Amino acid sequence: MRIIGIESSCDDSAVAYLEMRDGKVVRLEQVVASQLVHANYGGVVPEVAAREHSAKLPVILKELAHLVVGTADGAKLGRVTDLVAATAGPGLATSLRVGLDTARGLAAAWNKPFFAINHIDGHVSANWLPGKDAPSPLEGNDPFPAVALVVSGGHTELLRLSGHGDYELLGATLDDAAGEAFDKTAKLMGLGYPGGPAISRAAVNGNPQAYDFPRPMSGTDDFNFSFSGLKTSVRYFIEKNVERLSDPQFVADLSASVEQAIVDVLVLKTVWAAEACGSRTVLLAGGVAANRKLRETLRSVLADRLPDVRFVEPRPEHCTDNAAMIAMAGHLQSARRGPDDWRISEADPNWELGR
Ligand code: KG4
Ligand code: ZN
Repeated sequence: MRIIGIESSCDDSAVAYLEMRDGKVVRLEQVVASQLVHANYGGVVPEVAAREHSAKLPVILKELAHLVVGTADGAKLGRVTDLVAATAGPGLATSLRVGLDTARGLAAAWNKPFFAINHIDGHVSANWLPGKDAPSPLEGNDPFPAVALVVSGGHTELLRLSGHGDYELLGATLDDAAGEAFDKTAKLMGLGYPGGPAISRAAVNGNPQAYDFPRPMSGTDDFNFSFSGLKTSVRYFIEKNVERLSDPQFVADLSASVEQAIVDVLVLKTVWAAEACGSRTVLLAGGVAANRKLRETLRSVLADRLPDVRFVEPRPEHCTDNAAMIAMAGHLQSARRGPDDWRISEADPNWELGR
């Protein structure tokens, strides 16, 4: 099975070619065009993002063809493709349309089955992708039932999986996403966009106990999150200490303390969820899953509290938006259901899993 994946839900235009044989990944090629232009605005501008996708997707598809068949010939790429998969939602409406319509066009022209993929299902499916030299620990293994912590710029959710694509929503953020908490804190500190990597870099030399920020909803008897109170408390703290932002140690301590507050609540609720659901596996997914502190803390708390539960994390390069995860989701979906009709497939900016 050879799958072309296309991702354009936010500000990354990405295409991938995934080749599977006997349940194993035998080849993975991908091309990503990140839209650096948004750094000038401090956040993603939807109109600009859609225009960039339109400009870049045809170009990176040609590059992908070159990688896969040795020449930038789309017709040849079509001849070695069995299935086309693209993100249909959730995400920015206009951005989604560009990638989805590109994929619909390819499926029609090449006469191949088409799969509309949920972006969050894509992030979760990234756990099945291999690293450079090693297969995914899930290759050939049944991880279900599993709990997935999905943490990205737009989402913070705990999902229970009974099988591929079989989701139940356990809880979600009531306001900001975890990635937003990172991004907004970084913006207040003048660390630039995207904020998550900037905060975690600055935090390396900081003391996570230096400042005590709230751990919102850590006492509630549910699997929901809230990060807006934390963001407000960080904003007040920065306003009071604005002159100290020129001190690198202050920036490091503040970054480490905010990171710790976010990680503490995420880990606490994920471990509860795994325990409550009798999970065999805990999966991490989404851009914030690249955060080293989150990965290390979750791994060590799970090992301590639930030693029989296996912890699986996607490779850091597969955490932020990419098309390999969409291709993998297309492959996993094709094993459990028939294709979607490219004639009528529509983008769904608010597509929610498991409700
Ligand atoms: O999944 P993603 O690429 O896009 C969405 O679907 O939203 O996630 C992007 C988010 C951003 O908020 C970014 O700041 C955050 O992931 N992020 C991180 C790290 N790398 C990316 N947050 C914390 N630590 C990181 N290392
Ligand atoms: Zn994403």
